[in-house]
Amino acid sequence: MKRELKVQPIKDGTVIDHITAGQALNVLKILEIKPGTKEVVSVVMNVRSEKMGKKDIVKVENRELKPEEVDKIALIAPNATINIIRNYEVVEKHKVFLPREIEGVIKCANPSCISNTNEPVRSKFQVVESVVVAGDRESRSLRFRCSYCERMMDLEDVMEQL
Ligand code: CTP
Ligand code: ZN
Repeated sequence: MKRELKVQPIKDGTVIDHITAGQALNVLKILEIKPGTKEVVSVVMNVRSEKMGKKDIVKVENRELKPEEVDKIALIAPNATINIIRNYEVVEKHKVFLPREIEGVIKCANPSCISNTNEPVRSKFQVVESVVVAGDRESRSLRFRCSYCERMMDLEDVMEQL
């Protein structure tokens, strides 16, 4: 008999699948799921995935995500898929989308950047991707360059403000 890890299917809600391994807790942070929450949430970390080696999964019952939440998840888990579940069926599945340029989702860390003044300027960043190859595994890392002041921000800087 084949033995495998089974996580219970949910009846209604959202399954965020193919999350970059290690990012599930940051996804909870983006969804503002905090200690004391009454929401029904399952978190799976570092499970084997054919496509990704390892992945995390977050299931939130009776909730569909806002577009801003999905945009933020794309920053930390660019391969994530958002599955909307109704009555146990996956009724919608889409991959998050990380554009080359992101507007308005994160704030520049430079306090004197024009995007942080009273000027009506929306924050804008170029997504800079670097690929590190180690043996047969490659890992991608993302950074963000402010289009106004060139300040570079990494994922940690971004997570601090999410
Ligand atoms: N899922 C769930 N509850 C359901 C239906 C699905 O928790 N009632 C979960 C599955 O466990 C899976 C995700 O939602 O993690 C997507 O389901 P499905 O599309 O059936 O799985 P796959 O075909 O493996 O998805 P993909 O092709 O995106 O890898
Ligand atoms: Zn800036």
